[in-house]
Amino acid sequence: MALLIIFHLLAIFVPALGDAFIGVNIGTDVTNMPSPTEVVTLLKAQGIQHVRLYDADRAMLRALANTGIRVIVSVPNDQLLGIGQSNATAANWVARNVIAHVPATNITAIAVGSEVLTSLTNAAPVLVSALKFLQAALVAANLDQQIKVSTPHSSSVMVNSFPPSQAFFNKSWDPVMVPLLKFLQSTGSYLMLNVYPYYDFMKPGAVIPLDYALFRPLPPNKEAIDSNTLLHYTNVFDAVVDAAYFAMSYLNFTNIPILVTESGWPSKGDSSEPDATIDNASTYNSNLIRHVLNNSGTPKQPGIAISSYIYELYNEDLRTGPVSENNWGLFYANGAPVYTLHLTNAGTVFANDTTNQTFCVAKSNADTKLLQAALDWACGPGKVDCSSLLQGQPCYDPNNVAAHATYAINAYYQQMAKSAGTCDFKGVASVTTTNPSHGSCIFPGSYGKNGSSINGTELAPSTNSTNSGCLSQYYNGGSLTSSLILTLILSVAVL
Ligand SMILES: *[C@@H]1O[C@H](CO)[C@@H](O)[C@H](O)[C@H]1NC(C)=O
Ligand SMILES: *[C@@H]1O[C@H](CO)[C@@H](O)[C@H](O)[C@H]1NC(C)=O
Ligand SMILES: *[C@@H]1O[C@H](CO)[C@@H](O)[C@H](O)[C@H]1NC(C)=O
Ligand SMILES: *[C@@H]1O[C@H](CO)[C@@H](O)[C@H](O)[C@H]1NC(C)=O
Ligand SMILES: *[C@@H]1O[C@H](CO)[C@@H](O)[C@H](O)[C@H]1NC(C)=O
Ligand SMILES: *[C@@H]1O[C@H](CO)[C@@H](O)[C@H](O)[C@H]1NC(C)=O
Ligand SMILES: *[C@@H]1O[C@H](CO)[C@@H](O)[C@H](O)[C@H]1NC(C)=O
Ligand SMILES: *[C@@H]1O[C@H](CO)[C@@H](O)[C@H](O)[C@H]1NC(C)=O
Ligand SMILES: *[C@@H]1O[C@H](CO)[C@@H](O)[C@H](O)[C@H]1NC(C)=O
Ligand SMILES: *[C@@H]1O[C@H](CO)[C@@H](O)[C@H](O)[C@H]1NC(C)=O
Ligand SMILES: *[C@@H]1O[C@H](CO)[C@@H](O)[C@H](O)[C@H]1NC(C)=O
Repeated sequence: MALLIIFHLLAIFVPALGDAFIGVNIGTDVTNMPSPTEVVTLLKAQGIQHVRLYDADRAMLRALANTGIRVIVSVPNDQLLGIGQSNATAANWVARNVIAHVPATNITAIAVGSEVLTSLTNAAPVLVSALKFLQAALVAANLDQQIKVSTPHSSSVMVNSFPPSQAFFNKSWDPVMVPLLKFLQSTGSYLMLNVYPYYDFMKPGAVIPLDYALFRPLPPNKEAIDSNTLLHYTNVFDAVVDAAYFAMSYLNFTNIPILVTESGWPSKGDSSEPDATIDNASTYNSNLIRHVLNNSGTPKQPGIAISSYIYELYNEDLRTGPVSENNWGLFYANGAPVYTLHLTNAGTVFANDTTNQTFCVAKSNADTKLLQAALDWACGPGKVDCSSLLQGQPCYDPNNVAAHATYAINAYYQQMAKSAGTCDFKGVASVTTTNPSHGSCIFPGSYGKNGSSINGTELAPSTNSTNSGCLSQYYNGGSLTSSLILTLILSVAVL
């Protein structure tokens, strides 16, 4: 009998969602949160084509317009009750946060709340109404084919998730889960699932080998075998995803695809989190990316792509909780990678991270006087070779202080081997992964162009950076501006 059930379950059909992709979550609890334009610059430089926002921030959605980047917007948990109780509120939300932005911004889904069943139980009774009201608004706008509605679950909505064939959803949520799955099925949407082998590994009493959590090869005697299905599991991620397929099939839903809305590994933790290290985080995320992009699906559903959004783009220093809470990011707010991913031949996503190629550039809107001082300092006491900035040389154009300062401060940063504190210049400079080279003006630090490292005491950029007495030969903007003003005053006087 048990065997019969298993064979029945194996025969289920899940529609393919196309090739698997890797996206990233963009949390914004960051002290110096980059501007939406800066975020998009980083996404483009890293080849990231899919993002999930935790809200529907208007400026962010505008910055994402016409970029080709696919976007999941979210109804934050604190707006869920209102939307679940009023279809007018839901319609209004869709009008403001979706209809106002498509098609320029390619919104592909609305994630309604976050881990509602396990963390916001008072909103659970209105969850399905919220999804239905939002769906109705999309239908009215004829957007329901391109935009799907779903809600991300914690994997702890499942009980007994190993072996996967014995997993089921916590029965106390069946009154929500059953209508929810009906909704997902009838609208062609997907089950959104957050998959954290890190927490499974951390769980007290868990006997999961680290290699199994990190997608590392296991000796055959350590491979996990589901004794009901005889399927071999080589990693926790696949086992959790398959557990969700089985849990759905026990409720007779056999054709709902799964989208992993969060997965990742922290790179730093406190003393009780020894596995939160740079090496482990880099291993997990590199292997996750390779695994997902390989399109191999899971043991239960081979060939059915499981796309996944990495948690997360930036380290969020303002989040509370253990140290690991602040260290899930792939990048610092200044755009520098927290660690290097190992992705040889994995495609283009994060290709620039693997090189950890960073540059130091002038911030937009930086004070011109400070930029001039930084330029003068770098080309003077900073001992940077600024000959490329002279008239007739490759980096002379554009001939303005911001462009010239960017060249000089980047050259200094590369010369100092990008060491900490060498890209600041009184706050006018910041690190970026976008190569500022243009035309024949090749910036130091570009592929194949190492800045020659000087060996000596590090000169502090700030000490001598305001020697205003000597006017730079590398940019003459200051005097140009004053003579222009003088000319204007003179012409006014003539009138
Ligand atoms: C990496 O950066 C360079 C220069 O900024 C850019 O031309 C290239 O397309 C980027 N690679 C990817 C995969 O986006
Ligand atoms: C809300 O639901 C009511 C009753 O079903 C319907 O008449 C009304 O048109 C809906 N309003 C919106 C904004 O969808
Ligand atoms: C928006 O994203 C969807 C899903 O990836 C894709 O099929 C569609 O072509 C995109 N639309 C535009 C205008 O880029
Ligand atoms: C199932 O959910 C209920 C309600 O949230 C919770 O009290 C119970 O501990 C859960 N059961 C399991 C086995 O996780
Ligand atoms: C699933 O379908 C089977 C066969 O039709 C039925 O016996 C069973 O009660 C259903 N289970 C649920 C949870 O609906
Ligand atoms: C990875 O995590 C394990 C388990 O906590 C820890 O012992 C180990 O030092 C970490 N490995 C690396 C290379 O960081
Ligand atoms: C990639 O997929 C193939 C089968 O589709 C599989 O044999 C191979 O082991 C997979 N590689 C990785 C790194 O997952
Ligand atoms: C990448 O570069 C940044 C800035 O230069 C540095 O802080 C970080 O430690 C580097 N990461 C790796 C893994 O080398
Ligand atoms: C650049 O510097 C790094 C580290 O010093 C070195 O490994 C690499 O080979 C250099 N690349 C070139 C093109 O000189
Ligand atoms: C810097 O100079 C010191 C003393 O001359 C030498 O011992 C050291 O190896 C040099 N370091 C580098 C990175 O060249
Ligand atoms: C600052 O400039 C003075 C005068 O040019 C020079 O003597 C001194 O060494 C400089 N200090 C640094 C840290 O470069």
